[in-house]
Amino acid sequence: MQIHDHVFEKFISADEIASVVNRLAKEINDDYSGKELVIIIILKGAFIFAADIVRLLQIPNRIEFLSANSYGSSMNSSGVVEFTVPDYNFKDKHILIIEDIIDTGLTLTSITTALQKFSPASLEIVTLISKSSMRIIDIHVKYVGIEIPPIFIIGYGLDYDERGRNLPDIYSKIPSG
Ligand code: IMP
Ligand code: MG
Repeated sequence: MQIHDHVFEKFISADEIASVVNRLAKEINDDYSGKELVIIIILKGAFIFAADIVRLLQIPNRIEFLSANSYGSSMNSSGVVEFTVPDYNFKDKHILIIEDIIDTGLTLTSITTALQKFSPASLEIVTLISKSSMRIIDIHVKYVGIEIPPIFIIGYGLDYDERGRNLPDIYSKIPSG
């Protein structure tokens, strides 16, 4: 599949994603049993993953959105993260952040640093994809769906210059040599 100037091939099927999402939801349901959650969905990328996983959660929850931008239109993290914290008092709340992919860790480090100032009861992250070998900042991620090598992927919410978010499967960029 061609998107803009690059060619992509299927990398993770929708079925495989669904089974990973099921596993993560089960872990979260077990861990937060008897508690309440404040879920923060990181836009835009996490919108599809979040829509799938929240429908499997049996924990009473409130949902907030946070729009984060660190990438621009390139394939490399810019290191500059822009976001606005939701207008809500997170003090003593159990916060669960839903993210699509963690690459350098810069985006989530900025966000968790801002949220810790509210003194939440707990603050954890669930990410569908992690590229651990790309980390610039070591960040604790309690729930990781799939570990991948340092490649560029699209689909299931993830984009290349705002294309490909709607694809049901995940595709990886074929190296252009
Ligand atoms: P980090 O701050 O480097 O961890 O970047 C995290 C953000 O970069 C994610 O929320 C994505 O929006 C974006 N990102 C990182 N890797 C990819 C990728 O392979 N495809 C599409 N977006 C990515
Ligand atoms: Mg994102």
